[in-house]
Amino acid sequence: MIIIIKFLDLQSQYASIREEVDSAIQSVLVNASFIGGAELTAFETEFAAFQGAAHCVGVGNGTDALEIALEALDLPPGAEVIVPANSFIASSEAVTRSGLRVVFADVNPDTYLLDLGDVKRRLTPRTKALVVVHLYGNPCDMDAVLAFAKEHGLRVIEDAAQAHGAEWRQRRVGAIGDIGTFSFYPGKNLGAYGDGGAILTNDGTLAKKARMIANHGRVAKYDHEFEGRNSRLDGLQATILRVKLRHLDGWIGRRNAIARQYIEGLIGVGDLILPQLPQADSRHAFHLFVVRTASRRALAHHLEAAGIQTGRHYPVALPKLAAYRYLGEVDVTMFANQADQYLLSLPIGEHLADEDVHEVIRAISGFFARAEGLEATDDEAITR
Ligand SMILES: Cc1ncc(COP(=O)(O)O)c(C=O)c1O
Repeated sequence: MIIIIKFLDLQSQYASIREEVDSAIQSVLVNASFIGGAELTAFETEFAAFQGAAHCVGVGNGTDALEIALEALDLPPGAEVIVPANSFIASSEAVTRSGLRVVFADVNPDTYLLDLGDVKRRLTPRTKALVVVHLYGNPCDMDAVLAFAKEHGLRVIEDAAQAHGAEWRQRRVGAIGDIGTFSFYPGKNLGAYGDGGAILTNDGTLAKKARMIANHGRVAKYDHEFEGRNSRLDGLQATILRVKLRHLDGWIGRRNAIARQYIEGLIGVGDLILPQLPQADSRHAFHLFVVRTASRRALAHHLEAAGIQTGRHYPVALPKLAAYRYLGEVDVTMFANQADQYLLSLPIGEHLADEDVHEVIRAISGFFARAEGLEATDDEAITR
């Protein structure tokens, strides 16, 4: 029998909160509060409180959130913005689309997060900001980031699309730097039932600017101070997110428990390099559990045959994408430009029972035990 262990299971999540979600949706329909309205305001207040930020602006998606945040910072046209080479394209796309120049820097091989040592080598007098991505839900060392930014006069944008609820030294990420952005894409730890995004900041002036940019440059209905755009988190998504926000801490707790099970069960297995748990006063949100192995492709096939779904984040490092050919030759010495071939994301989420996690561990251990057995046989054949 083929066991199906899903990478993501939004249907089972919905089943677990169905009554709450259905009644919340019903009330938005009855009140016809589709754009703006009480649900949006309540979600913005609750999400800001949850993340420990002074201001939250709901927007259309995480990519818009990044573009609007960059625009609100008002960097000089053509300024260079450093972006980690391992992320989703939105992290860099938003820079270019805001009239700024992307400069990729490497990520740390232990954390996959922006490597400040490499950033330092890529600074020029035109560098004005850093996009730090709390990739996979792993919080960046924000003390180091802020000290570095201060030393070099840089603004800090936190791309927290994958890191709702993640904490650096007991502070939730997103408003530790100048401005932070979130995605509520359905598969995220806090996901809407469509697109959604948010911007967080503790700076009231930046928050006001971001809100105006997202709303045609206006505060009052036809009072447009400048040309902005239309990027909205709608009432239905806001009400769904309010329901899910009440469960988020529990879901992240479950993700952490699964991560610990994986780490205990897989330590020393084959050539696997496992994610590290953050220090005790920080919290990984484990949006993704990414391992590294030279046998990535064979392991993924083995797991697929065993009914276990996996993912790749990301199969091609950003500087190697056709979209960035214009930047010139790819720096093949970068860890990120090599590691993309070895990364494999295992299933993680509150949809998994302990037995599922044990099954994944058994299947991976079996794969490497067989591989080692085959190698031993080959060696014997050679020596005989
Ligand atoms: C790191 C990162 N940044 C930005 C985004 C963009 O978010 P959205 O898909 O909501 O536009 C994503 C979404 O996948 C992401 O993973």
